[in-house]
Amino acid sequence: MALNAVEILSNSSPDYYFNTIKLIENKKGFSNPEAYTITVDSLDHSLTVTSPSGQGLLYGALSLYRPGNGKNHTDYPRNEIRILNHWDNLDGTIERGYAGKSIWNWDTPLTEDQISLYNKYALANAMAGINGTVLNNVNASPNMLNHDKLERVAEIADILRPYGIKVYLSVNFASPSVIGGLETADPLNKEVAKWWKDKAKEIYALIPDFGGFLVKANSEGQPGPCDFGRTHADGANMLAKALKPFGGKVMWRAFVYSPSDPDRAKQAYAEFNPLDGKFDDNVLVQVKNGPVDFQPREPFSPLFGGMTETPLIAELQITQEYLGHANHLAYLAPMWEEFFEEAPSDNIKGVAGVANIGDNENLTGHPLAQANWYAFGRLAWNPQLKSEDIIEEWAEMTPWLNLDETQMPEFKKMMCESREHVVDYMMPIGLHHQFAWGHHYGPQPWCEIPGARADWLPKYYHKADKNGIGFDRTVATGSGATAQYPESFANQFENPKTCPEKYLLWFHHLDWNYKLPSGETIWESLNRHYDSGVDGVAEMRKIWQNLEGCTDPDIYKDIENRLLTQHKDAIWWRDGCLEYFGNISNLKPSKLSMHTLEDMIPVELGIDNYTNPSKELLDSKR
Ligand code: GCU
Repeated sequence: MALNAVEILSNSSPDYYFNTIKLIENKKGFSNPEAYTITVDSLDHSLTVTSPSGQGLLYGALSLYRPGNGKNHTDYPRNEIRILNHWDNLDGTIERGYAGKSIWNWDTPLTEDQISLYNKYALANAMAGINGTVLNNVNASPNMLNHDKLERVAEIADILRPYGIKVYLSVNFASPSVIGGLETADPLNKEVAKWWKDKAKEIYALIPDFGGFLVKANSEGQPGPCDFGRTHADGANMLAKALKPFGGKVMWRAFVYSPSDPDRAKQAYAEFNPLDGKFDDNVLVQVKNGPVDFQPREPFSPLFGGMTETPLIAELQITQEYLGHANHLAYLAPMWEEFFEEAPSDNIKGVAGVANIGDNENLTGHPLAQANWYAFGRLAWNPQLKSEDIIEEWAEMTPWLNLDETQMPEFKKMMCESREHVVDYMMPIGLHHQFAWGHHYGPQPWCEIPGARADWLPKYYHKADKNGIGFDRTVATGSGATAQYPESFANQFENPKTCPEKYLLWFHHLDWNYKLPSGETIWESLNRHYDSGVDGVAEMRKIWQNLEGCTDPDIYKDIENRLLTQHKDAIWWRDGCLEYFGNISNLKPSKLSMHTLEDMIPVELGIDNYTNPSKELLDSKR
């Protein structure tokens, strides 16, 4: 592989002073192909990076740019697959994308600027340890597999390759019938299997190191093997056989739920657990971190620990579909750290992150959301890393941030507490999916859409009535979702007295005056959390004011404005939820609300699923 570790070191040298930096490729003593060792000889001021592969040398060389890394150490990635999932469409829109349009150009010759951007993108990924990227949306257009598009994929792959990044594609399961002219896409049909084999051959002729396919099947209207009475394993294995001769992989998503089940949180497990062990060896099942859908807080999906014979990829969402889009500051590493700490990880072989990248000048919309991209890669590399260390590392390496010794602790505090504030002002103690219809920006616990699927509506999740609130998922009286967890977790979640408070209303429907161990009632606890979320944002604004001067004035102002929007949104969330639940329970919010339900209910933001709502738009609506 033509890696440019040497080039990287010779273009700009790390901060440390060494007379010589040597790169040595040597397989001896290494079991992980991407591992590297750094050895420093302090006598002659020389540093040596040793690795069994060019890829490892690249990671070793790049690690020298991280603060404090110019000393003896060995490192290696804990997960083989560390991959971004772009939800980018061929028309340039990005599903749940809040940083502009797609960076990929499918239609016209690549410009110098685009090539330079793709190089920067690749370097940023390599720096974080990311080694793969899926270029297009899981809701995949069959046209992605047309030859002209594949030629462009090959061009992009050529640019990313020197940085150790493999390219993958999302595929539409119905492609053989939509673009291949076949009458069916049944995975057990010989012609269908041949169509995929031929397609794989065509792809590998253009991209010899192509990574493989990501598939969303039989989910939210996407076609899949179940349309033909086949199983997910039948579908995945058919594709796996097409890719196998070339070393490609299938990443088959477990994000499925049918409109008829009484508990959406149980669906993925119900469909996939019986298929455990039935997948070919080049299939990985890709599971979202939680059982529902990237909520600000979810317990881990029971498929982790529930599929012991199948390699899994943990899917995380970097783009903030449910955490205030690009307007809210939410450093996500603490959320992912929580997931890695709690979920059984024996079978996790990869980590995927739904990208937050678009063509905005700073690539991520919110300037500080760049940290989430970096943190995703670092945690995919090593899930044991700590969010506060990652943020410090990122801040020190970020050219547009200049924090002195007194500012760094403040900055870290603001970042590390930010996600908990979001949970508090949106959906504390286990509440989930209280989002506005469609765009998932603001709160709509009252939402009613005639004819809509029940499990797309907030009421399905909060189940609030005059007596209490929460989704009863116990075996004793509820949906029985707790039984999907390994026994020790199942017992813990089943009993409201042992269920962690942060998941209480996820697993239990409790009276408004149910007493928590602290002595607070549910209603009092909800009030405390909502207020604390709003106060937390106010505090973040203060911290940011104290940090003025740490960055360029335009970036400073941009972040300041976004924090102001976040503050207004947090108040809107608190008032919307507490007023609504207060109305149902006949209880009063502990603080005076700034908005009434009559003001809030009629507000329609009118935003789509591809755009970040601007401050102007939000201010004009409320
Ligand atoms: C969520 C999201 C969709 C996305 C889906 C998925 O439901 O709102 O836009 O397509 O997840 O992960 O497939």
